[in-house]
Amino acid sequence: MSSKLKLGVLISGRGSNLQSLIDATQDDSFPAEIVTVISNVPGVAGLDRAAKAGIATTVINHKDFEDREPFEDVLHDALNEAGVELVCLAGFMRILTDGFVSRWLDKLINIHPSLLPSFRGLHTHERAIEAGVRFSGCTIHFVRPAMDDGPIIAQTAVPIRHDDTPDALAARILVEEHKIYPLAVRLIAEGRVSIEDSLVKIKDAVNPDGTTINPEN
Ligand code: GRF
Repeated sequence: MSSKLKLGVLISGRGSNLQSLIDATQDDSFPAEIVTVISNVPGVAGLDRAAKAGIATTVINHKDFEDREPFEDVLHDALNEAGVELVCLAGFMRILTDGFVSRWLDKLINIHPSLLPSFRGLHTHERAIEAGVRFSGCTIHFVRPAMDDGPIIAQTAVPIRHDDTPDALAARILVEEHKIYPLAVRLIAEGRVSIEDSLVKIKDAVNPDGTTINPEN
């Protein structure tokens, strides 16, 4: 039996972050494998990406349920049945209840397209540009009950250009999202990530060098 960490990836759409995880897992040395991809929206592109990679997919349409809890019960059972050990939210556009988050505490991670704790929620790129911040980026974090909250595992900063548009910034950040998600999963799968006093510690982490200044002149 494989000793790789078993991932369940939850999506609602395009699935480009899912693709970055699929691509990473295709390297034999990657210490995690995707055992199921679950979408709450039928017919989305991410499901095709998973099917193409030979990964089992399930649609659990939230519209078939009157409340969040019964939807999440089905989701929880599907993840358990697939033997999932780490749940990766990848553009999953449903707010999860405290109950679901507690059941998967420290086994549930998310990617968010900003440097948390700045710009939680939607329209992050537009809001970052409007706020005049010089950097935005992306964050991988453990999920806690509050939206886009929880111990931060990894972040990448991306400079904001002086003529940036939300779409252009989103595209540049997405490139970094696709690197950071597999990195965070690898660190967890290697057993190097722990949480102490709500902060993530990474064993044998390589310290980044230098500083980045924006603007450069
Ligand atoms: C990404 O920008 C991710 O950070 C956010 O939703 C978007 C999903 O994109 N949570 P994709 O479906 O992975 O392409």
